[in-house]
Amino acid sequence: MILRFLGHSAFSLLSGSGHRVLIDPYLDGNPQAPVRADQLTADFIILSHAHGDHLGDTIGIAKRCGALVICVAELAGYLAAKGLKTHAMQIGGAHDFPFGRVKFTSAWHGSQTPDGHYAGLAAGILIWMDGVCVYHAGDTGLFYGMKLIGEMNRIDLFIVPIGDNYTMGSDDALKAVELVNPRVVIPMHYNTWPVIAADPEAFAAQVRSMGKECLVLQPGEEIRA
Ligand code: NI
Ligand code: MN
Repeated sequence: MILRFLGHSAFSLLSGSGHRVLIDPYLDGNPQAPVRADQLTADFIILSHAHGDHLGDTIGIAKRCGALVICVAELAGYLAAKGLKTHAMQIGGAHDFPFGRVKFTSAWHGSQTPDGHYAGLAAGILIWMDGVCVYHAGDTGLFYGMKLIGEMNRIDLFIVPIGDNYTMGSDDALKAVELVNPRVVIPMHYNTWPVIAADPEAFAAQVRSMGKECLVLQPGEEIRA
C-alpha cells in the first residue's frame, strides 16, 4: 500500500487492490496542503472526529466522488442528513471494508462540527490494509490505554500528534511511542499554526534514540509500506 501525507492530520492510503482511502481530509483551509480538495479522489473517507481541521473538505469530496464516509455514529448521522453515504461505527468496534479492516479506538479529545452540532466522541483509527497495521491516533492527549492497543495489535505505522496545545506534545508523544511500541513512527498535527509549532526532526531524533524508525514526511510525500 502507498501512504501519502497531505499535511496536518490528513493522509491518503492506496491499497494494492486500488481502493483510495482518505483520512481527515483538511485541505482547502490548510495553507500547507499540497493539493486542493478538488484534485483528490476517494472511495472511502475515514474521520477521527468532527473538528474543522479533520472534517475539512469531506462533504465536497464525498459528494463529488460518491465516497463512503466511515466515522462514529453521531457524526455519521450529521453527514447522512447532508446527503452523504456513511458507515456508522463506535469506539471499540471493527468492520471489514473492501480495502481492509477499520477499528475505532478511544482518544482523549472533544468533537463538534464546525457549525456547532454534537458529533459524538473523538476517536483514534486502526486500519489494516495489505497486511500493514496503521494506528492514526487522531487528536488525543496521552493515555495509558495506548499500551493495550500496542499489546493487542502489532502496529506497523504509528501516526501520532506532536503539536501540543490541542493534543499531545512531543514529550508525551515519546511516551506514547514507548507504550504502543510500533515499527515506524510518523509525527502529525504540528506547525499548521503558530500555537502548534513543534520541531519534528528533534522528535524524530529522540524516537531514533529509542531504537525506532521515525519518518518526518513533507506534505505531499508518500511512502510504500
Ligand atoms: Ni480536534
Ligand atoms: Mn485537530
